[in-house]
Amino acid sequence: MIYMLDTANLDAIRRAVDLYPLAGVTTNPTIIAKENRTLREILLDIREIIGETRMLHAQVLGTTAEIMLKEARALCQFDPHIIIKVPVTPQGIKAMKLMKADGMRITATAILTPQQALMAAMAGAEFLAPYVNRLDNICSGGCSVVADITQLIATYQLSAKVLAASFKNVQQVHEVAKAGAQSVTIAPDVFDQLLNHPLTDSGVAGFVMDWNGVYGEGKTILDVL
Ligand code: G3P
Repeated sequence: MIYMLDTANLDAIRRAVDLYPLAGVTTNPTIIAKENRTLREILLDIREIIGETRMLHAQVLGTTAEIMLKEARALCQFDPHIIIKVPVTPQGIKAMKLMKADGMRITATAILTPQQALMAAMAGAEFLAPYVNRLDNICSGGCSVVADITQLIATYQLSAKVLAASFKNVQQVHEVAKAGAQSVTIAPDVFDQLLNHPLTDSGVAGFVMDWNGVYGEGKTILDVL
């Protein structure tokens, strides 16, 4: 599983880079706007935290392929390692073909159907980002859409990877993992929930209590080995 964090919040990114096997950070215009700083500052700061090897995804906003391509070129000039997110509109699909010809890395986003995903993969997208919770909100089975996309990728032997997005709970993440999604991007609050279990916490507390009772408070393996 390739884990990414869906945020532009620097504290959350720092924390996740420190704790988790994080492969990258994804943003979208809403996520960027929440920070209320310039895009330049935000992208620079995120890159500084995640380093060159982790992925950084940033989305274009234009409504025509030509403008999207110009935006993508500007983003790539600013950060040569950036991955360009493009919505799966007809103009977006055209833009993906042009960006692919330019050698850019592309994430197709705002995917709500398997056919949008298939078209984006054929247009050159490396990642396909279906919106799981937004589909669940309208009773359209977000996880089964992801399962259909992973099946299409296998059937057509495509190199594109699912980057499942828009999660509101751990069950959704679990379902897309079972469906074979190659990657997920998760907001910080849900990401932390992936590890949460009261029995894990009480289990660890019990180990510490039993240990301290014999070897003394605060003693580690290093003190007694
Ligand atoms: O990356 C796409 C994702 O941010 C959408 O999530 O929570 O706004 O549905 P959400």
